[in-house]
Amino acid sequence: MKPANLPRAQRLAIRDLQVRFGGRQVVGIDEFSLGAAEIVGLAGESGSGKSMTTLAVLGLAHTVGATVRGSIRLDGTELTGLSQRELLAVRGRRIAAIFQSPAMAFSPVFKVGSVVLRALRLHGMSRADAAGAAARAMRQVLLAPDLLDRYPAQLSGGQLQRVAIALALALRAEVLLADEPTSALDVTVQAEVLDLLRGLREREGMSVLLISHDLAVVAELCDRVAIMRGGAIVEQGAVGQVLSAPQHEYTADLVAAVPRLAAEAAPILPAPPAPTTPSDAPAPPAPSAAPPPPTPSSAPAPPTPADGEVPE
Ligand SMILES: Nc1ncnc2c1ncn2[C@@H]1O[C@H](COP(=O)(O)OP(=O)(O)O)[C@@H](O)[C@H]1O
Ligand SMILES: [Mg+2]
Repeated sequence: MKPANLPRAQRLAIRDLQVRFGGRQVVGIDEFSLGAAEIVGLAGESGSGKSMTTLAVLGLAHTVGATVRGSIRLDGTELTGLSQRELLAVRGRRIAAIFQSPAMAFSPVFKVGSVVLRALRLHGMSRADAAGAAARAMRQVLLAPDLLDRYPAQLSGGQLQRVAIALALALRAEVLLADEPTSALDVTVQAEVLDLLRGLREREGMSVLLISHDLAVVAELCDRVAIMRGGAIVEQGAVGQVLSAPQHEYTADLVAAVPRLAAEAAPILPAPPAPTTPSDAPAPPAPSAAPPPPTPSSAPAPPTPADGEVPE
């Protein structure tokens, strides 16, 4: 088995990264990497430095008044020393980003298509190529290309997030930084966006950094996870390993806050009840066609129907 901390081809490699607001350090990461076609989660409570890490990787930390020191390499190329002009060729083009509020990425006064086309043309596509690439990418995210003719306010949050993902696709970005991409969306739409991200990795080989305070989302989508607290990564490794057997107390607390994960993390909490019928409980009536036994779940057992509701 491959050691969890040694992904094969490192696309994005962070070493000794420090982000500061004046004298206050808000990020201090010794080592973090994102492999080719890998989905890595960056999790941790609000204020732990996840978004500032993203902004540092995008070369945008200075826009909010922060300074960045250390090393951020993309396919071996050091990004931290690049001029803003050089970074323009990287940001958006090779490293794309989507954010919690997709509306932020689109000016309300422009049709979303004009924002997408402008970005594609900025990165060197001809008008005709850009139009074709935009339409293709819209279909890849399961949206009708004519939605590009609408204004942001005429699209749902989920649709706008898909357009933002379509732009990353059209640019053939190698790395997608997704900062809480589903936190502002309805649960059903969340699942669709997560499926899309999974598809980006499988079909396009894109590497995804999924920033989320939601460990359930991380557990569902990520290969590895890094847990941040107070600007530092306190623990990282394969998702199954970190979430089921956390080494750090803070990680254990985060896991314990997610009922479904807590049930699977035997070392932290008492093991869930075994799926055998307890001897001191009445055996359920034997069904005529036996369904598979229920898997133990963290959800509280449904109350026995006492209020007149008869299960079918
Ligand atoms: N513009 C800013 N000015 C000063 N401090 C900031 C600014 N943005 C973020 N911070 C601080 O940086 C730390 C990390 O914030 P952030 O990266 O946004 O956390 P997260 O994304 O994990 O919730 C926090 O302590 C936050 O208060
Ligand atoms: Mg954030």
